[in-house]
Amino acid sequence: ASNSEAFRPLFHHTPRYGWMNDPNGMFYKDGVYHLCFQYNPYGSMWGNLSWGHSTSTDLVNWKAEEPVLVPDGLGMIFSGSCVVDKENTAGFGKDAVVAIYTSAGASQIQSLAYSLDNGRTFKTYENNPIITSDKECRDPNMFWHAESGRWILVLAAALEREMWIYSSPDLKNWKKESSFGRGYGCQEGVWECPDLMQLPVRGTDEKKWVLICNINPGGPFGGSAAQYFVGDFDGKTFTCDTKPEVTKWMDYGKDHYATVSWSNAPDDRHTVIAWMSNWQYANNVPTKQYRSANSLPRDLGLYKVGDGDYYLTTVPAPETLALRGKKTMDYGAFSVGKNGVAKKLPVANNGICEVNLELDARTAGKVNITLSNLKGEQTVLTYNLTDNSFGMDRTRSGLTDFSKDFPAITLAPAPQGRKQHLRLFIDRCSIEAFDGEGRFVMTNLVFPTEPYTTLSISTDKGRCRVGNLTVYPLEVENN
Ligand code: FRU
Repeated sequence: ASNSEAFRPLFHHTPRYGWMNDPNGMFYKDGVYHLCFQYNPYGSMWGNLSWGHSTSTDLVNWKAEEPVLVPDGLGMIFSGSCVVDKENTAGFGKDAVVAIYTSAGASQIQSLAYSLDNGRTFKTYENNPIITSDKECRDPNMFWHAESGRWILVLAAALEREMWIYSSPDLKNWKKESSFGRGYGCQEGVWECPDLMQLPVRGTDEKKWVLICNINPGGPFGGSAAQYFVGDFDGKTFTCDTKPEVTKWMDYGKDHYATVSWSNAPDDRHTVIAWMSNWQYANNVPTKQYRSANSLPRDLGLYKVGDGDYYLTTVPAPETLALRGKKTMDYGAFSVGKNGVAKKLPVANNGICEVNLELDARTAGKVNITLSNLKGEQTVLTYNLTDNSFGMDRTRSGLTDFSKDFPAITLAPAPQGRKQHLRLFIDRCSIEAFDGEGRFVMTNLVFPTEPYTTLSISTDKGRCRVGNLTVYPLEVENN
């Protein structure tokens, strides 16, 4: 990866060359995080889908490896997942890494491949396919369910808008147990890329099951997005806690899709990564040798709100703290009004940085946090204290005219109250905004023709107290 290439992110994973979409088959083994991805090795638009492969020991510095699966007689290699077969249930060998993915040829069928060298190379199974259906089904996602002593696989029945749940003793023979989704959540687009996991509820001993369901189109601001359902899973059936018409979004930006978690992650972590783009314009974004990056890795949890409903918390994986360089720009606390206060953003490394700030909006109606450069390009983040929303306006953010769907204002429900805590991660073509406690996250691409150099904070009226404004210039290993 070259820093001189326009817009090439510096602290987000990208393919060295060529097209990337969904993260795939992510697993952790022997201290290494493996990230495979939908990959076109021959060009920077969707096609020739293979599984590209990168590895990392810290989730933020990535090493490009050789692709592990390339199209074969059964078709292109669409999305899927990997597990580490610790008990050798499949008979390929103890600790074999087993991948199940969609072979996309004349129809979509599910195939198996396995690796006996820690995921460096994979061999396709001789009896593929292992699951067939007359419907369009894809993106198998697996995990070991200890209570029932079975492997569980969730498959997206894309046009049915259902997630089909299978079980298996050996990863080769699968039995369909149930189906979830008819009439639930957002039903506008196709359902893709599921993930089912059990998460602890913050501050309690309780655990709940979360079913991630990526949809396209139908996202809250158009195109691709990730919704989720919270409920229970008994080894066969997922039951949702909320009424069918409730829709919960994982991320309130336009560039967060195909989100799935690492299998076999240490310390019971549920760490996810998203494809940081949107099918509306992914093939047209103004990058050159490659297209698309992943989001930062994020750790998921749950919290319970007053009415007894559960929502996801999403926080940047703690490994991202290691990106902070030695120097910090500590702007402390101050008060702002309508005229606003401007602070410098770092110039080193194309301005890549993390920004932390606390707000006490006091008498302000809205608080604007504006990132801008001398060319007049700007992205405006707004806390609206009247309707408790957080917004990001990228309509004047830089290059926007490559797609009519790109200029947008995205909105998230902000936590109640006048006090807010925000963490921003700014890379060369993305902004990820996290509520300090993980209660919302918003991921948007932006293509400023020069890095943003100024951060200014102002109110629409009244005053706002800003606390602990700290800018951390980020540093990455040279890759
Ligand atoms: C989601 C998706 C998956 C499919 C893959 C193909 O973005 O459409 O459903 O497996 O991309 O590249």
